[in-house]
Amino acid sequence: MYIWFTVLAGLAILSLSFLRTLFPYFGEDCVYMLRSITLGIRLAKYTKVKPFYSVLDCFLDAVKRHPKKIFLHFEGREYTYEEVDKQSNKVARALQAEARLKEGDVVALFLANEPCFVWIWLGLTKLGCPAALLNFNIRSKSLLHCFSCCGAKVIIASEELQCAVEEVLPTLREQGTSVYLLSEACNIEGINSLSDKISPASDLPLSRDLRANVNIKSTALYIYTSGTTGLPKAAVVTHERVWAASFLQAACGVTSEDIFYINLPLYHSAGFLIGMVGGIERGMTIVLKRKFSASQFWGDCRKYNVTVMQYIGETMRYLCNTPQKDDERNHKVKMAIGNGVRSDIWSEFLNRFGDIKVRELYAATEGNIGFINYTSKIGAVGRVNFVHRFFFPYTLIKFDIEKEEPVRNSEGLCIEAATGETGLMLGKVTQRSPFVGYAGNLQQTEKKRLRDVMKKGDLYFNTGDLLRFDEMNFVYFLDRVGDTFRWKGENVATSEVADILSMSNSVLEANVYGVKVEGHEGRIGMAAVTLKEGEDFDCSHTFKQVVNYLPAYARPRFIRIQPCLEMTGTFKMKKVKLVEEGFNPAHIEDSLYFLDPEQKSYVPLTQDIYTAISRREIKL
Ligand SMILES: *[C@@H]1O[C@H](CO)[C@@H](O)[C@H](O)[C@H]1NC(C)=O
Ligand SMILES: *[C@@H]1O[C@H](CO)[C@@H](O)[C@H](O)[C@H]1NC(C)=O
Repeated sequence: MYIWFTVLAGLAILSLSFLRTLFPYFGEDCVYMLRSITLGIRLAKYTKVKPFYSVLDCFLDAVKRHPKKIFLHFEGREYTYEEVDKQSNKVARALQAEARLKEGDVVALFLANEPCFVWIWLGLTKLGCPAALLNFNIRSKSLLHCFSCCGAKVIIASEELQCAVEEVLPTLREQGTSVYLLSEACNIEGINSLSDKISPASDLPLSRDLRANVNIKSTALYIYTSGTTGLPKAAVVTHERVWAASFLQAACGVTSEDIFYINLPLYHSAGFLIGMVGGIERGMTIVLKRKFSASQFWGDCRKYNVTVMQYIGETMRYLCNTPQKDDERNHKVKMAIGNGVRSDIWSEFLNRFGDIKVRELYAATEGNIGFINYTSKIGAVGRVNFVHRFFFPYTLIKFDIEKEEPVRNSEGLCIEAATGETGLMLGKVTQRSPFVGYAGNLQQTEKKRLRDVMKKGDLYFNTGDLLRFDEMNFVYFLDRVGDTFRWKGENVATSEVADILSMSNSVLEANVYGVKVEGHEGRIGMAAVTLKEGEDFDCSHTFKQVVNYLPAYARPRFIRIQPCLEMTGTFKMKKVKLVEEGFNPAHIEDSLYFLDPEQKSYVPLTQDIYTAISRREIKL
């Protein structure tokens, strides 16, 4: 096998200079295809061996290979591979004794971005327990929903999240949940301290038998994604998918010598799977941040010799917004992996901070299709190549933006979008690219499935994303179909927000969408609402409702009062026109309101407020 690759690679290099003139991206295509094939073969090998080779086994091998190598840098402390391994043994033993965990029990992690996130997860994996990664911004109803929909019986929370846990404690106790707090002591009935149980526990390795029944198709994690309707959904992530996502760094050419900077939350797949697990796969050193800080960014990179950074669109923008400094090209960062950067910010970033290779990805946690921008083409999220398409078949179909549904021909089949035309991205569901779906939510799972696409009876995963291919085979991301929008790097489910709004006193119905604001990535939340008969908009009650139930990034900052909400032919609320109209009071006759955190209420959106937002005098 490997001889063949060497030969192929040799040929590729020989013919490169000739082909380069004909196909300018041939070299990059080849390198990427070879890496993909090699990784595909590795995954096939891991699947075949009995018991299967897991990311945990990979970690344990790394511990054997370089016990003293630093695995994590965090707030001035360093943790070697060996230390992290021992910590995870302690965690596993403490949980075994305290919570009586056994193989297959789901444990919800409600944790901040801290090193213990990593060893608690490793400890759980040693016991064969899947972990549900809860977003630490969620509260009350959402928190309870996320906790229960994955079938968890145990929750482990950071000490700083104690209040959020107390808020839902009565319900958790009713459900018989074991609640653990990472503290030395806790005097609240129903919450058990855990740190004091972990420190004295033995750090000796645990037997493999504890996870003897786990196989590559078993659930490793639940990662939450925004629902298209209602509350967040728990995407089921199998061990196979953990491997596949962790290969992204390898596919981009990152090596074990690199130093990787994670400033994204670990509860999302980007930070956890691509960043942290990818770091384990490479056996590298990771610099972990509690949260992203633009002012500390380059200082950290210099201090820790960071060579690879992770980003979302906002990261790049915030870095570009910092004041210019003389030494800002003085760093070793040579690659950035992430998604969501716009071309203009991209160019500005490169101009200011030097020649950094950007690897823009396109993928969804639960999806079965992804792209990497492995050539450096500004604006593209990836490239179509036949190896990729063979392993992960996909299609781009014509989409009716007004009706918000696929265009179908007289036989009821979808129609492929032409080159250069915007279409809806679908990933074919196959053995190699399965769509596992969401925990405890058949209806949501079914909603993401699209049948009778290219022929009767076929099945595709609907990404809900609008993309475009150009004649050079580059792939561009355009937009997301109405049900979710993205703000501050988080996906927001419009119907979850609408549910909360309609629980407010005066609101009858709500139609939620995202609107663009000059100078910001993504879209900020806005809602068109109708009021109950004879009532005025209750500014302060709606404010309370929104602030109590929604994380800051999901709150609608603008409200538009309408006499009635327009529907499509299929009784979905029309959004496209509302999105286009935005929130400028000069152009909209309906009354508009603005969520003002200082006044703790919604206030009428005046032209002055509008101008202040445009001039960025009001922070959003
Ligand atoms: C970064 O690299 C320099 C020079 O190569 C080295 O002296 C220093 O110890 C490194 N810093 C860290 C945190 O590894
Ligand atoms: C793809 O990568 C290149 C170079 O690294 C970059 O210039 C380009 O902007 C990227 N595309 C996107 C969408 O970021």
